[in-house]
Amino acid sequence: MTTSVVKTGPVPAYDYKIVRQFTIMSVVWGIVGMGVGVLIAAQLAWPALNDLFQPFTHFGRLRPLHTNAVIFAFGGSVLFATSYYVVQRTCQTPLWGGWLVPFTFWGWQVVIVAAAITLPMGLTSSKEYAELEWPIDILIALIWVAYALVFFGTIAKRRTSHIYVANWFFGAYIITIAFLHIVNNLAIPVYPFKSYSLFAGTTDAMIQWWYGHNAVGFFLTAAFLGIMYYFVPKQAGRPVYSYQLSIVHFWALISIYVWAGGHHLHYSALPDWTQSLAMIMSVILLAPSWGGMINGIMTLSGAWHKLRTDPTLRFLVVSLSFYGMSTFEGPMMSIKTVNALSHNTDWTVGHVHSGALGWVAMISIGALYHLVPVLFGRKQMYSVKLINAHFWLATVGTVLYIAAMWVNGITQGLMWRAFNADGTLTYSFVESVIASYPGYIVRFIGGAFFLFGMLLMAYNVFRTVTEKENAASEDNIVPHAQTA
Ligand code: HEM
Ligand code: HEM
Repeated sequence: MTTSVVKTGPVPAYDYKIVRQFTIMSVVWGIVGMGVGVLIAAQLAWPALNDLFQPFTHFGRLRPLHTNAVIFAFGGSVLFATSYYVVQRTCQTPLWGGWLVPFTFWGWQVVIVAAAITLPMGLTSSKEYAELEWPIDILIALIWVAYALVFFGTIAKRRTSHIYVANWFFGAYIITIAFLHIVNNLAIPVYPFKSYSLFAGTTDAMIQWWYGHNAVGFFLTAAFLGIMYYFVPKQAGRPVYSYQLSIVHFWALISIYVWAGGHHLHYSALPDWTQSLAMIMSVILLAPSWGGMINGIMTLSGAWHKLRTDPTLRFLVVSLSFYGMSTFEGPMMSIKTVNALSHNTDWTVGHVHSGALGWVAMISIGALYHLVPVLFGRKQMYSVKLINAHFWLATVGTVLYIAAMWVNGITQGLMWRAFNADGTLTYSFVESVIASYPGYIVRFIGGAFFLFGMLLMAYNVFRTVTEKENAASEDNIVPHAQTA
């Protein structure tokens, strides 16, 4: 993976403590975030559940708790763990930064707990995926600067001449998220947990979706592609299919993504040319997205047979299929005439979760199953059968979720636009809600499958970490050859 070593002598021990901490918390926050997801899915099917502990457990308050928990607590912990692991291994040097390293861990946990307290209390800036109020935002900015210092400090003192491509993706995500977070959260504080955005009207909307879309592009995509470029080759035991393609993939993806945010504001007060530009850029985005997917999947050339026996590899490869699917669907939904049907319907929610469950969560789970035995000095995971069961629960759960939302979304879109000959609406809004009811139940079942899989994972991780017989000696570490 790395080419000529520029520093000689033995590689000092890597700093795995921080990776272990973030790895364990990824599993914990995954369960919490998805648990809240299942609860709000149940609330949409059985509205009486909104009344549990009013107003704290109302859908409106728990929904942002879900999105923040799955994206930033679960996804964020996975990204801290994997980026810290990959940057050390590919630069052949331990992390730089001293106390900054634990600061990123404990600081991030404080942010998560603060979010879990303030969001159910209704304290929110009301910007989607950036709901947290200004004191928490400042803490996030400080942690992110520390993260950047640790990551780039480690790259600066690398013992290799080359910077492996996974680090390019992680690096782009760290820099871009800093910009997005700071600009979108610029606000005038009025008291400790209330602030008003510095921007107003359409400008505010455009800044918000420049942020929102690039949070998808850099947090939920580029960074997880960093995971792909390290963990797929490792688990498959094959080099990346095309290193040249990975470089083209990187530059094309990051230079196109930033133009596409306007597709969230079709048919709004945003100037029409901005909407069209965003649409065109979104359609072009299909090319680098699929280039990356193909590069990942083709890495298995000569190792396809491993899919039969290695469920960890299956998680990684199936996540790439979902990535391909959601990055085909996204460009289609960004075409204005298609968006006229899909916007505000459950189709968007289905698209989100084919990316979020199928891509983000599945690749994360694959990477975590690869990491746990290495980090805790074990021969392999406690039970490969349980990984296999988890794989099927996650796959079936995701398919149930997104298929239900496609049916619901297209039904809603068609019902809302149906007119009678005299120009009156054919259906009332309530009729479209009634038509969506079966889909909400299927989505709840799919989510429950996915959550159950995560519980199996927690048990498997717990047994792997605590079981002494499974301890690896120097010559029996086979972390990427776990077979059923
Ligand atoms: C057990 C798994 C999950 C379940 C049951 C679930 C359920 C839900 C539900 C019911 C909503 C609200 C939809 C609405 O407002 O109509 C939602 C929204 C959302 N979820 Fe999940 N979710 C799960 C996992 C995840 C994961 C792992 C991620 C990200 C990595 C994620 C990201 C989101 C996002 C971004 C939204 C907002 C969607 C939008 O605004 O269109 N979810 N989820
Ligand atoms: C080529 C790639 C992609 C394009 C062009 C794209 C495009 C779109 C479009 C057009 C929408 C609907 C906007 C609306 O009508 O309101 C949307 C929503 C969304 N997409 Fe994608 N998408 C892509 C990939 C992804 C991936 C891989 C993920 C997740 C990992 C994702 C997450 C989301 C989220 C969270 C939303 C909902 C935003 C909200 O309204 O809250 N997208 N995307």
